[in-house]
Amino acid sequence: MSKTSTPVDEALFAFLRTRTIPEDTYLRDLCAAATEAGLPQIQIAPEQAAFLQLVLRAIGARSVIEVGTLGGYSAIAMARSLPADGRVLTHELDERHAEFAREWIANSDQQGKVEVVVGDAGETLAQLPDAAFDAMFVDADKSGYVRYLEHARRLLRPRGILLADNVLAGGRVAGGTDETAVAIRAFLDAAAAVPDLQSVVVPLGDGVFFGVKQG
Ligand SMILES: C[S@@+](CC[C@H](N)C(=O)[O-])C[C@H]1O[C@@H](n2cnc3c(N)ncnc32)[C@H](O)[C@@H]1O
Repeated sequence: MSKTSTPVDEALFAFLRTRTIPEDTYLRDLCAAATEAGLPQIQIAPEQAAFLQLVLRAIGARSVIEVGTLGGYSAIAMARSLPADGRVLTHELDERHAEFAREWIANSDQQGKVEVVVGDAGETLAQLPDAAFDAMFVDADKSGYVRYLEHARRLLRPRGILLADNVLAGGRVAGGTDETAVAIRAFLDAAAAVPDLQSVVVPLGDGVFFGVKQG
């Protein structure tokens, strides 16, 4: 049994990337346009998008909630792995981000599959029905992650998947005292205390939490 994970340095990562992650030219253009429009460059990495797509395909997801739209990169990426009648309901606080995302979603081949809901996700998620979603991807304010975990417990169907980005908190999650590290640690502690949630952290990008609601 291996006691440690094999470290993946940049050269090894570059090797793996060219063999497993197809380039999405539309999303590459979206990133360039988002930079030009002054949006922060904090969307998920292509390898994380590929991971989300694989997970959603593997479970045959049709209905996905996202918390944190930004420019629509991850929402469009996830929509690509859903069937034609699949739906991504993505929640965004910032009107300007939502407007940019709506435009890029409307011009994409995933138009009709992604809906942007504007508002504080803590409130907008409360309006959604119980056990109606196959997966939820959390990628927004870190101080809200514990709150989003509670929403996920209600909103996900049995065997539904909870995914969350940045759970390594830039490598500081174990002992960091900054706001992000403390918030993510609280999230991981809260998730570990949920009896019907089995989880693992996948060290892609800044770490992807991957949990399955039992039942
Ligand atoms: C890291 S970005 C999302 C990136 C996006 N998932 C992607 O990969 O393309 C975080 C987004 O969450 C939004 N956000 C922050 N607090 C929020 C809240 N309380 N409710 C909804 N969205 C929020 C921010 O405005 C920002 O656009």
